[in-house]
Amino acid sequence: MSNELDRERREMHAVLQQPGVRPDDSVQITRRTFVHRSLLFGAATVGQTFSWWPLLNTIDIAQAAEAPFKFAWISDTHLYPKSLNTRFVEKTVRAAKEVQAMDPPADFLIFGGDLAQLGKIEELELGNELLKEVKIPKYFIPGEHDWYLDMGKKWGELFGKPTWSMDHKGVRFIGLDTVSRGPDYWTAKKMTPEERMGHMATLDGTVAGPWAGVGRDQLDWLQNKLADWDKAKPIVIFTHNPLYEYYPPWNFWVRDWRDVHEVLKPYTKVINIHGHVHQVL
Ligand SMILES: [Fe+2]
Ligand SMILES: [Fe+2]
Repeated sequence: MSNELDRERREMHAVLQQPGVRPDDSVQITRRTFVHRSLLFGAATVGQTFSWWPLLNTIDIAQAAEAPFKFAWISDTHLYPKSLNTRFVEKTVRAAKEVQAMDPPADFLIFGGDLAQLGKIEELELGNELLKEVKIPKYFIPGEHDWYLDMGKKWGELFGKPTWSMDHKGVRFIGLDTVSRGPDYWTAKKMTPEERMGHMATLDGTVAGPWAGVGRDQLDWLQNKLADWDKAKPIVIFTHNPLYEYYPPWNFWVRDWRDVHEVLKPYTKVINIHGHVHQVL
C-alpha cells in the first residue's frame, strides 16, 4: 500500500511540478497575468478535453497569499449508478486518491459540480462516498446535473449551502451557485422531474435555454461579503459555470456576467475557477 501511495505521489509530482510553468517571483503581477499565470501555475489536467471525464487541477497562488499553500479541485465526475457504469466511478476513485496522495498535502478540496449524471439520490450518495477517501476539508458547489431532478434537495442534504465563503492564508475563497436559477418553463409544460433533468442534461442550451446565472440575491451577498476585503488582496471564486462569456449556447457563461464583473471591478486579484466546460481555462 505504501509503495502504491509513493508511486502515485511521484506521478502526481511529475504532473503538477513541470519545469517552466512557475511564474518569476520578481515580476510585478497585474490582474491579467495573475489570473493567467495562476492557472498555468501547477495546473494539471487529467483526462481529455470535452470527454465526460473529471478534471483535476491545483492552483498555487503563493505570490499573493500570506504563505504558500495548495488546494485541490475535482469537477464534473458525472457519476452514474455503479450498476450502469463503472468507468466514471473508477476515475473518481483515482482522482480522490491522487488528491489524498499530494505531498505536501492540499489544505482543502473543492468539488466543482456535476457530481451526478442525472441527479439521482444514489448517484449523489455514491459521489459523497467516493470522496470520503479525501480526508482534508471539502467544499462543494452544485452543477446542473446535481440539481434538476429534485431542485437541489438531496444535494443540499449532503453538502449544505451552495453559497459560501471562507478565508484561508490571506485569500478569500467564495463559492457561488450558478445553476439553480433557470427560468421555470417546465411547470407550464407539465414536465416530470425526469423530463426536466433530461433537458438540463443536454449540453446544447437551445433545449433548456440560458439557465446559468448568479442572480440578484447572490450578487448582493457577494458585494456584502467583499465589502471589508482589501482591494489588493486575492479572491478566488468557485462556480460551476464560467463567470464570463465563453460559449453561451452551451451555458459556458452566466447570463448576468456583466453584473458579476461590476461587483468585482474594484478588486485587483480575482480568479474564477469553474467546472462545466470540462477543460482547464
Ligand atoms: Fe459537467
Ligand atoms: Fe455542468
